[in-house]
Amino acid sequence: MPVIISMINLKGGVGKTTLTVALAEFIALEYGLKVLVIDLDPQTNATVSLMDEYQWKKHNIHGQTVVQLFRDYLEDRRVFSAHEAIVHNVSNIGGGIAGLDLLPSSLDLIDIQDELIKIPARGIFSQRPLTILGENICEEIGSYDIVLIDCPPNLGLITQNGLILSQYYLIPVVPDILSAYGIPQIVTRIKRLEAETGIRINCLGVIINRFRQQNRLHVNQVRLLQMNARDGGYQRVLSTIIPEAARAASAVDFSLPGNNLHDKYGYDVPFKQYQQLTEEVLQLVIL
Ligand SMILES: Nc1ncnc2c1ncn2[C@@H]1O[C@H](COP(=O)(O)OP(=O)(O)OP(=O)(O)O)[C@@H](O)[C@H]1O
Ligand SMILES: [Mg+2]
Repeated sequence: MPVIISMINLKGGVGKTTLTVALAEFIALEYGLKVLVIDLDPQTNATVSLMDEYQWKKHNIHGQTVVQLFRDYLEDRRVFSAHEAIVHNVSNIGGGIAGLDLLPSSLDLIDIQDELIKIPARGIFSQRPLTILGENICEEIGSYDIVLIDCPPNLGLITQNGLILSQYYLIPVVPDILSAYGIPQIVTRIKRLEAETGIRINCLGVIINRFRQQNRLHVNQVRLLQMNARDGGYQRVLSTIIPEAARAASAVDFSLPGNNLHDKYGYDVPFKQYQQLTEEVLQLVIL
């Protein structure tokens, strides 16, 4: 079975998607591991930054995105096929990276989330259908080394489906007051989910993103987060800090292709930090 890591924060815009995509590309290209990105966010940011829009539309029309998986559950039928939905060799680097695959999302996921709450459960866990994602993709994910799940900024049912599939989660944070504010809530809610399902979901730590050295608030927040890691239940602040970087911001644009990681991420910032972060994360989970 692969190592499965969810990227989660209740706060939007902290870098969950950017970091998911960068980690996926670095793991696939620099370590030659087989990586699957699952986009659980109706905003489809990971999807559109990894695959061409025309190809995505075809998948969407044919019901081969995560939205169909949940729609099938609601309508009690079987249109979704993980085998057909997973897009192979995605990314705008080198016309696609061998061994980097994507289970795309769809904008329609937002309506499904509301519908899901209304229906009675048929899953094995208590009252809520938490195993829809896992049951439908378990056969396909066995061949991957790493699965990265890009979660939306909430802890709704769809996110919970991703979390209970994961052995680990990472919390990207911009070190301002608001982004760090929700961390205790994430940790507590995931602990509750663990207690309810008997499934262990380990926090790997907080990733500091968009750090600005000149900003005193940022410097103080990082220190505070490092000090509170144990008591806060998030284990650690990863030692790699990702700075605010124009190249990180433009990385989500699929229409800016490159031949290799340097074309996309430069030679220094944020290339070096992403490289170091990848090594740090892999050390924690497999190396
Ligand atoms: N290191 C960075 N430096 C500068 N900009 C960044 C950096 N990381 C991410 N960004 C930018 O910040 C914005 C938010 O990033 P991203 O979409 O990855 O966050 P998110 O947590 O996935 O958001 P959401 O909760 O909406 O899904 C994007 O415009 C992205 O390009
Ligand atoms: Mg996102």
